[in-house]
Formats: sequence, structure tokens, C-alpha cells
Amino acid sequence: MYKKIAIFDSGVGGIGTLKLLSQKPISEEIIYYADNKNIPFGSKSKNELILICQNAVNLLEKENVELIIFACNTASSVISELKSKVKIISIIDYAKKGLENIKNSQNTLVVATKATINSGIYQSICNSFNIKADFINPTDFVELVETMRIKNIKEYFHKYFIKNNYEYILYACTHYPFLDSEFNNYFLKATTIDPAKIMVDCLEKSEIPVLNSTKPMLIFKASKDTTILKRFYERIFDV
Ligand code: DGL
Repeated sequence: MYKKIAIFDSGVGGIGTLKLLSQKPISEEIIYYADNKNIPFGSKSKNELILICQNAVNLLEKENVELIIFACNTASSVISELKSKVKIISIIDYAKKGLENIKNSQNTLVVATKATINSGIYQSICNSFNIKADFINPTDFVELVETMRIKNIKEYFHKYFIKNNYEYILYACTHYPFLDSEFNNYFLKATTIDPAKIMVDCLEKSEIPVLNSTKPMLIFKASKDTTILKRFYERIFDV
């Protein structure tokens, strides 16, 4: 059981992880930090991302958190370049577990930001599990989720995805699970995989001792504005 942990994302994406984690009492306090001044991370270069993520780690270290969860895949792709006195958990490690469960699959779609795809990290994970996958960046999806403008989204699916008969879809960006029903409506045969769910299950089951406790105290922090985070949290989760 932790006293204080942090979740980091570029915007509202990691609120899915926050929601799941706030139902599992692994920490008394959770800081949700979004560097929304720099959103979208997906269009940034590797060097820009290292700078952004190092700043986030430095800021969260000052908050005396015991653990930092990188809910963001794009940020997680540069974790090995960061210096931190605090333990950092990468969402990509849990996406890897999800991909291991479907090893040898020959018809998978990995959806991710441009920067995550350019990092090559998911391509090498898929290769290591003999998974044949397409890697696609639906550029507008992050903004659509941030602004909650998810009506008429079908046209975006037609724009980005030529095939619709994938067997598995891995959400390699935390924003995309908020479009889960839209993905399921378009990809009728696909099973979707959300690494945040795998992460929270793993944390609950083995990695961290869970004690009985009430819901954790949530604190929203942002480099620009927390209003959008709080509004999104309330609207999505009926708080
Ligand atoms: N949600 C983030 C991810 O998981 C990135 C979104 C963005 O800022 O481009 O990759």
C-alpha cells in the first residue's frame, strides 16, 4: 500500500487508468498529472519527449510520490532515457503482456501515436511474439477524445483504416479506449486489448500488497489547466 503515487499522461488519456486504480485501493493518495501544455505528445520528436518527460518526473519527485505510473505510451517509449529517484511503471510493459497472450496472431492492429510508432518499440515486441500486425496512427483521435467531440466518428474510421477484419486490436495509446464502442462497431470481429486494464489487474494481484481502504484521495495537476481533466473525469465516470 502506497501513501502517494502519481499517474502521468499528456491529457485526459490516463483518466481511464485513474478510474481503474481509484477502484483498487493501492494508494491513499493519487496525483493525476497532465502536461497538457505540450499535448499532443504524439507529434513530438524523441528529444522533445525526453525533455517533457524528465520535467514531469522532476515535478512529481518534488511531490514526494513513491511511484510514478506512465499511463501514456508515447511517454513510456522514452523511459529508458530518463533519470528518476522514484520507481516508474511503464504502460508498455503491460501492453507487452497483452501481446504475449496473443502470440503467433497473424491479423492484429496496433493503434498508437506517430511518435510511439516511430520509436519502433511495438514493432519489436510484435516480432518477438511472432505477431503480424499493422501499426496505424489515427492522428485525430487524441483531439477528438480531449474535446469529447466523438459524434460522426465513423468517417474517421473510414479515413484511417482500410481493413476492418482484424482479429485483435491493441490500444497503444491511452486515449483510444475511450472510443472502445466506436472501435467495436467498426471492427466487428476484433477483440480489443486495453493495457491499462492489464496493468491494474497485475498491480492488484501481485505487484503491490493491497490493503482494505476507502477510495484514494485524487488530486488533479496540469501544466496548463485542470478544468478539462476534472470535467472529463466527472462526465465519463458519473462522479
Ligand atoms: N495518450 C498518449 C499515449 O498513450 C499520447 C497522446 C498524445 O498526447 O499524443 O500515447
